[in-house]
This record gives sequence, C-alpha cells and structure tokens, in this order.
Amino acid sequence: MERIKLHDKFFVPCIKAAEIDKAVEAVANNINNDLKGVDTPIFLSVLNGSFIFTADLMRKLDISSDVVFIKLASYEGTSTTGEVKEIMGLTKSVKGRTVVVVEDIVDTGNTVEELYKILKREGAADIKICTLLLKPDSYKKDIKIDYAALQIPNDFIVGYGLDYDQLGRQYKDIYVLDESQD
Ligand code: IMP
Ligand code: MG
Repeated sequence: MERIKLHDKFFVPCIKAAEIDKAVEAVANNINNDLKGVDTPIFLSVLNGSFIFTADLMRKLDISSDVVFIKLASYEGTSTTGEVKEIMGLTKSVKGRTVVVVEDIVDTGNTVEELYKILKREGAADIKICTLLLKPDSYKKDIKIDYAALQIPNDFIVGYGLDYDQLGRQYKDIYVLDESQD
C-alpha cells in the first residue's frame, strides 16, 4: 500500500484518479444540461483547494463560461477554525449573472454560506453550488448543494488539490488520514 507522509501525519489511498474522473464527468454532464440556455455563467473557483477540480471540470464543459477566482480560508491543520477569512475578493462583477461556485469540499458549510452572502450582496441573479466532495454528516446548512461529485464520511483527506497545511495537493488520487499513525 502506498502510504504517504505529509508533515507529521500518514495518509492512505482512498479515492482513485479514475473514480474521480468519472464523478467529475457526471457533474459536468449535469451542468451542461442544466445551464445550456444560460448566458455565460461565471464559474467562481474557490482557491486554493479547487484549482485542480476547476481545471478538470472546465475541460468537460461544452457551454460558454467565464472563470473567476476567489480565495477564502478557514482550516488550520486538520480542523476548521469556524471563521472564514476572505484573502482575495471578487475580481469581476457578478451583478445579474448566474454564478456556479466551484468548491473542493463542503464540510461544515461555513465557507459556502459566506460565499452565498458575498454573491447575494454583489447582486448575483442565480447561485449554484458545485463541489467535488461533500461530507453530508457534517453539513448542516440550508443552502442547497446543487452538484456534489462525491460524498465522503467525516474524515480528513488530501490530494487532487486538497492539502494538509499546504502539502499534498499534487496527488492524482485522494488520500485519507491513516487510522494507525505508526
Ligand atoms: P467548511 O467551511 O467547513 O465547509 O470547509 C470548507 C473548506 O475547508 C474546504 O474548502 C477546504 O479548504 C477545507 N477542508 C474541509 N475538509 C477538508 C479535508 O478533509 N481536507 C482538506 N481540506 C478540507
Ligand atoms: Mg476550499
């Protein structure tokens, strides 16, 4: 088993690249269908975690689209601080536009809630939430998650853009924190 070590912790393979690719394809197909008639939706990619998902998703879309990046942070190490900080704000007007938020993972939903508030305040006409991963046992907010490629239990994962204190983003597969850390 190819176990990896990031900082002080061990991680083991959990979701293979081929499975991720299939799930991204399925979400892209749904978005292609749902947003066919919409005039150039904005795909709002949430940095840093979703840069790889965004790149793969965009290449599977056959609708015209605009990509905008925003940077928020709430995690320290392997747990949430509960406070979402805006590190880089919107660089383009979303007024009257359909916006698809592209997230790496929805956990407590604090980040999605904050994004929703920002987009409402800035006058987005329609807001859709798209995430690579959803932790349904952790998510307790009312905001609808329109597209979730994969669902996972409340475990801490890395790879495919996701990090543990900035390490591990480059892996093609997704890894989970190893139960036995020895
Ligand atoms: P939320 O605000 O609690 O929903 O957390 C969302 C953000 O926390 C995500 O966009 C990730 O950046 C980070 N996060 C949540 N769970 C994990 C995980 O298992 N691994 C790595 N980052 C995570
Ligand atoms: Mg994120």
